[in-house]
Amino acid sequence: MTGSTPLAWLSTLEKAALVSGASTWETRPVPRAGLPALVLTDGPHGIRRQLGASDHLGIAESAKATCFPPAATVANSWDLDLAREIGEALGREAAEQEVDVLLGPGLNIKRNPLCGRNFEYFSEDPLLAGDLAAAYVLGIQSRGVAACPKHFAANSQETARMTSDSVVDERTLREIYLTGFERVVRSADPWALMSSYNRVNGSYANESVFLLATVLRGEWGFDGLVVSDWGGSNDAAAAVAAGSALEMPSPGFGSVREVLDALASGRLSEADLDARVEEIRRLAERTAASGAAPATDEAVQHGLARRAAAESVVLLRNEGGLLPLAAGTRVGVIGDFAETPRYQGAGSSLVNTRNLVTPLEALAASTLDVAGFSRGFPRSGAADPALVTEAVALAKDVDVVLLYLGLDELAETEGRDRATMAMAPAQLELLEAVAAVNQRVVVVLAAGSPVEMPWLSHVAALAHGYLGGEGGAEGMVDVLTGAVNPGGRLAETYPVVLADVPGSESYPGESIVEYREGPFVGYRYFSTVEKPVRFPFGFGLSYTTFAYSDLSVTSDGARVTVTNTGTVAGSDVVQLYVGRIGEGIPRPRRELKGYAKVRLAAGESTQVEIPFDEYTFRHWSTRTGAWEVETARYAVEVGANVADLPLRAELDVAGTCEPDTAAAAALPHYASGDVRRVTDAEFELLLGRPLVAAPSGKRDLGLNDPLGAMSSARNPLARWAAGILHGRLRKSEAKGKPDLNMLFVLAMPFRALAKMTNGAITTPMAEAIVRIVNGSTFGGLGALIGAWRRSGRDAKELAREFERLSTGAPGAAATNPSDRHES
Ligand code: BGC
Repeated sequence: MTGSTPLAWLSTLEKAALVSGASTWETRPVPRAGLPALVLTDGPHGIRRQLGASDHLGIAESAKATCFPPAATVANSWDLDLAREIGEALGREAAEQEVDVLLGPGLNIKRNPLCGRNFEYFSEDPLLAGDLAAAYVLGIQSRGVAACPKHFAANSQETARMTSDSVVDERTLREIYLTGFERVVRSADPWALMSSYNRVNGSYANESVFLLATVLRGEWGFDGLVVSDWGGSNDAAAAVAAGSALEMPSPGFGSVREVLDALASGRLSEADLDARVEEIRRLAERTAASGAAPATDEAVQHGLARRAAAESVVLLRNEGGLLPLAAGTRVGVIGDFAETPRYQGAGSSLVNTRNLVTPLEALAASTLDVAGFSRGFPRSGAADPALVTEAVALAKDVDVVLLYLGLDELAETEGRDRATMAMAPAQLELLEAVAAVNQRVVVVLAAGSPVEMPWLSHVAALAHGYLGGEGGAEGMVDVLTGAVNPGGRLAETYPVVLADVPGSESYPGESIVEYREGPFVGYRYFSTVEKPVRFPFGFGLSYTTFAYSDLSVTSDGARVTVTNTGTVAGSDVVQLYVGRIGEGIPRPRRELKGYAKVRLAAGESTQVEIPFDEYTFRHWSTRTGAWEVETARYAVEVGANVADLPLRAELDVAGTCEPDTAAAAALPHYASGDVRRVTDAEFELLLGRPLVAAPSGKRDLGLNDPLGAMSSARNPLARWAAGILHGRLRKSEAKGKPDLNMLFVLAMPFRALAKMTNGAITTPMAEAIVRIVNGSTFGGLGALIGAWRRSGRDAKELAREFERLSTGAPGAAATNPSDRHES
């Protein structure tokens, strides 16, 4: 790649063709300008490089790769060095596989425990999510591979993800849903970023001038490339104008025509197109060295995957110090997950794992005396009495039961949210039976997001491995045996029951998703209204204990001493929360504003410093349209988790504005945090505009309605087609494995037909299909055939011309006079 090649002299057609992909994973090359085809690949916790059949849903096979623990798991480590190391390892493998852009990390906020993709995201807190994501980005990019944080923004559910509108007030949007991205962009300078499928306050994220132009580039100074999510582009020209440079995967030349037409009509300026092309060129320049990587060492990569898993285990219960288990302890291993582990989620992130070790294998290689294994329950469906009887017999005969439970494959997948936070009844029945005959049950849990635990008091210990990646089972055994002292701390709240989560009654939303709870997400809600939880944000036990002392706070930051008061070495995460004292704009009582991971020998003490920065006291003021700091007294609390903060100091901060007491009076439920009682009028006031009801009743479908909506279409043929699609999905779910393709197709809007079919269907054809669906069978069919003929011919001509120009084939100079200046 010749970095200095001026692209200004490229023909308009070449430029228009550059802003959409050539195939599922590649961009269009322009050889005569030295622009290569760039390879983009999932991500985020391993490389999913497909060399044969390709898809963006984790269906067709990809090359073998190391499967690191997903983001939800590593988040529990609160360890930025570890995150960076994983990023470097990912970058190394990506470079080895000639990948230019790794599509991750994902850092959407966990707004609700049911989001099907929570396993791919870090936290409910933007500071923690943003810092971890930044560490990944720095690691990945240190290998010459672009990272691509995603999905920007307010994409916190899978249901209707391609068509829904996230309705969220600007303050909440900025403070909760954008701050993580802001931290990544400002501190790690990602070379690429993926917009989300959904709309945000009415505009599709991929063409949102507010998100892409005003905030991302204007305020944060992002100079990388924005890529659409796969099939997530709505209006090609609007995307280019707003700042999105690459429509993926491969909309064909229909999309190129849309860009050319928009230029001709003046709806799109040449300057905007040039800016996007320059972003593509810059990305190619930045990733130019990515292919020249030495081979990675599988054993080293696996070792890191194992260590990452071990460092991320969260010990949630350990009655009587049952764990760690001494060498030679006679254990009975029970649970299907011990034989067939769940160690990653399903969907586009699915890695074709290189060196998976199962719990049974890891235990066999450990110091423990494994007396036997019993499956205990079927993966899906009702409990099996024979399996329970067999498991109970084993449980009676051993010192300790290791009970491997978890969420099944259906529960955690892209494209689908969970329907419940409860664990499968078959597992609960087994747990009850086993716990009745053995007091020493250790539950080893595999789940990328929280579950309800009404059974907790019946078991002696609970070690949560989340989804551990290929070395997860070994990492867990390291913790069970005490080779590693657990240092994981929850990066999200575990509510007692789902119904405790604000907004759970309406989650997931359909076409309009109201973020009524405002900033009171996760612990920000529970801690403000003092509602009990199962496990608070930041919680995790250790085989040692820690004490905090000598908190001193100045305007620059806090200092605190941490002491390991136990008898073994261990790590701790000292957490610092800030909250304004007295009246002012409605705010959560405490918000995480800093933390420090420390490793201490038994009896050792250290002083940690947690600096304050521009994020510590700020809030977004809709009055001034800027970040402001209320002049007020703030509480600074330090401790082990959000519900255990033994040290407290107060600090007077001279800010930029006076506390706005009028806002609190006008928004009483936001002021108290009791956001479940927010009225329409109060939410409208927070939003600053009236609410719009979702369309209901019988109506014509439009380009932006999902294909699944054909169930209520006028045309009986469309209803029949929808019935078939829904039926296929149901069938796959009954088998315990969702058909991801079907899920995607049903959620996909008609317009995406023109974005996902490599040009076979164009936007005018998709419009004609919608006419047919709406009952205008013959008119629609005529339009479809006409559009097919016209756009087919046009696309072929454009493709031919692009090929000729971009390769510098004979005749190219005639249409591109400035070629003559090249020497
Ligand atoms: C996902 C993205 C992913 C892309 C490519 C989409 O369905 O939302 O996260 O990177 O596919 O596979």
